[in-house]
Amino acid sequence: MNVLVIGNGGREHAILLALKKSPKVDKLYCMKGNAGTAEIAENVDVDYMNIEAVKAFAADHPEIDYYVVAPDDPLALGLVDELENMGKRCFGPRKNAAIIESSKAYAKRLMKKYNIPTAEYEIFDDYERALAYVRKKGAPIVLKADGLALGKGVLVCKTLKEAEDGLKEIMLDRAFGAAGNVIVIEECLRGLKYDPGEEVSVLSFTDGKTIVPMITSCDHKRAQDGDKGLNTGGMGAFSPCPFWTEELEKEVLQKIMIPTVNALNSEGRTFKGCLYFGLMRTDKGIKVVEFNSRFGDPETQVVLPMLKTDLMEIFEAVTDGRLGDIKVEWESGACVCVVLASGGYPLGYAKGKEIKIGDVGDCTIVHAGTAVRDGKLVTNGGRVLGVVAKGENIESARVKAYSAAANIGWENMFYRKDIGIKYREG
Ligand code: AMP
Ligand code: GLY
Repeated sequence: MNVLVIGNGGREHAILLALKKSPKVDKLYCMKGNAGTAEIAENVDVDYMNIEAVKAFAADHPEIDYYVVAPDDPLALGLVDELENMGKRCFGPRKNAAIIESSKAYAKRLMKKYNIPTAEYEIFDDYERALAYVRKKGAPIVLKADGLALGKGVLVCKTLKEAEDGLKEIMLDRAFGAAGNVIVIEECLRGLKYDPGEEVSVLSFTDGKTIVPMITSCDHKRAQDGDKGLNTGGMGAFSPCPFWTEELEKEVLQKIMIPTVNALNSEGRTFKGCLYFGLMRTDKGIKVVEFNSRFGDPETQVVLPMLKTDLMEIFEAVTDGRLGDIKVEWESGACVCVVLASGGYPLGYAKGKEIKIGDVGDCTIVHAGTAVRDGKLVTNGGRVLGVVAKGENIESARVKAYSAAANIGWENMFYRKDIGIKYREG
């Protein structure tokens, strides 16, 4: 099979690396890709947010058998619908199911209607009424712009002042554009043992009938050590989640995962693809913080290396609705990904800095914001590389990842030194 993956980041490189291991796959393509994807796939210079351009490319390339749509924006635009309508086979939900990520208000209403545990909330499209509600509830309180906002549309407000300022920013100043037309205001959850609460990402494969959870993972969203600094797209991740147990998995399957698949079916929005559950273990039980309609970034970089089963076989089983017939198996041990970023990220940063990579042992270097200029590997984004290491446990994987990271560099590179250190039980 010839397979094209849509997207440019570390997640897409990780998906390509997993597909490359499949005996079913002949040739890989990536739209648009980066310097890392170019090593294992043919990069295709088409803007994937331009649906007509993608359709024209697909029409010109009948040799491509399968499309994987990885990022949230093209899913929300309905790229899978368009490709499927052309007779192409795809991995990823249709637009009407991707709404579970693209509208937080939709996701909350769905959970309320089907009794899926989540934080208490109200939805507003009117600033004055939202303000009155925030004043009535007080702090801490959480504000969420309804639409997609590059993962930045959520404000966890510790004081009433922060909440009032945040509300103005989202609803009046339109900091996230039309994503802030509607706002979800919700109760601030408290962790069972930690503050802020302990979070786990559970990615799953689903064909709309069967749902198979992947191995669990945790990401680090803040820019600086000790969860200080600004929110980012993710500065690292590790797998598995330290507080996860078989018992918790059973509970999550029964109370959250299966009910979500059933709820989407009942609403006529059957979901096929990777459904991502962002969960928090709270003092009132496990709850859904968010859904994503796609693989997480950087979670994918630590989850897929642990997959024993052929990823292409799983993708096809999802497309064909026979996920229940196959066995999905995972390695034991652990995996850690340390993200190497450009100085200044997530705010302004320089591009085009030459990257030097020395001895990285048996770590895998996953590319995100990279390019080749004049034959040299250079930075081309905020998050540049992910150093991925496997080990018997998280500690040994951490040590390996950090010794490899020490042999990589460019002007003003930075990374967190505490990836993998959180939620250590006992
Ligand atoms: P989201 O984009 O919905 O995942 O939210 C981003 C981050 O905000 C989450 O990863 C949590 O750390 C935090 N968060 C979201 N909702 C809540 C909540 N109701 N209570 C506490 N923290 C939250
Ligand atoms: N790591 C969180 C996300 O992919 O949305």
